[in-house]
Amino acid sequence: MEVVILDDEEQVGRPGADAVAEHVARDPRAVLGLATGSSPLRVYRELAARVGRGELSLAGCRAFLLDEYVGLPVEHPESYRSVIRRDLIDHVDLDPARVLGPDGGADDLAAAGADFERTIAAAGGVDVQLLGVGSDGHIAFNEPGSSLASRTRIKTLTTQTRRDNARFFGGDVDAVPRHCLTQGIGTILQAGHLVLVALGTGKAEAVHQLVEGPVTALWPASALQLHPHATVLVDEAAATRLLLRDYYRETYLGKPAWQGFLRPRPRPAT
Ligand code: GLP
Repeated sequence: MEVVILDDEEQVGRPGADAVAEHVARDPRAVLGLATGSSPLRVYRELAARVGRGELSLAGCRAFLLDEYVGLPVEHPESYRSVIRRDLIDHVDLDPARVLGPDGGADDLAAAGADFERTIAAAGGVDVQLLGVGSDGHIAFNEPGSSLASRTRIKTLTTQTRRDNARFFGGDVDAVPRHCLTQGIGTILQAGHLVLVALGTGKAEAVHQLVEGPVTALWPASALQLHPHATVLVDEAAATRLLLRDYYRETYLGKPAWQGFLRPRPRPAT
């Protein structure tokens, strides 16, 4: 796992966008995994700026969302389809028809979860997955206690998550849906490269647990330790509880410029 500590949240956009752009440079038809929430916003802004300047095109890409609320109509401003449209798609050249999320409005949610899994697999899997983390350590909407092998399915949101997300619903916790359809931890771990962004002191404990704690369903993001290629981008505030933060800083400062965030492709078996 590569942990990158940046001076402040403004600095997060560039390396996050670099990671995505490196995948797109390697394969203009790359499959992107998009996260909603405030954490990836600076990455999205930077991607939009690069597309605007003609330095990057996402026109050949397709994308999958991590999760969706159950019971919110798609056109609701806080449905994750609406949010990602506002935060990213409206500002880049990604075809909205090629951005899919789990269908939280389906009558048969179990079937919708299985369909979503099949669609991701048919696209060849996600090449680069952006992630945030909840203050309770959830990724996507995999709340504490989620199976580390889980696939897309219905989950019940914790009170903590509904409180955290009430800010998007006019501060009204009761307006935040209780259920969601979310990619599982097993689904997320199948993406080729995970790029998690965490900002602010409210995420410091989750960041410590995910990077340095035991791998446990109590802190679902700790499953990233099982992934061979995970990049964690944090600001100073979110890094305050990291025991090895001096080492992470030293490693990033000494990182050769040519290395980037990609791994060499494995050689095909002969
Ligand atoms: C939400 C989303 C997650 C997101 C997390 C953190 O509930 N389902 O995908 O990563 O909570 O959100 P934020 O980035 O706004 O702190």
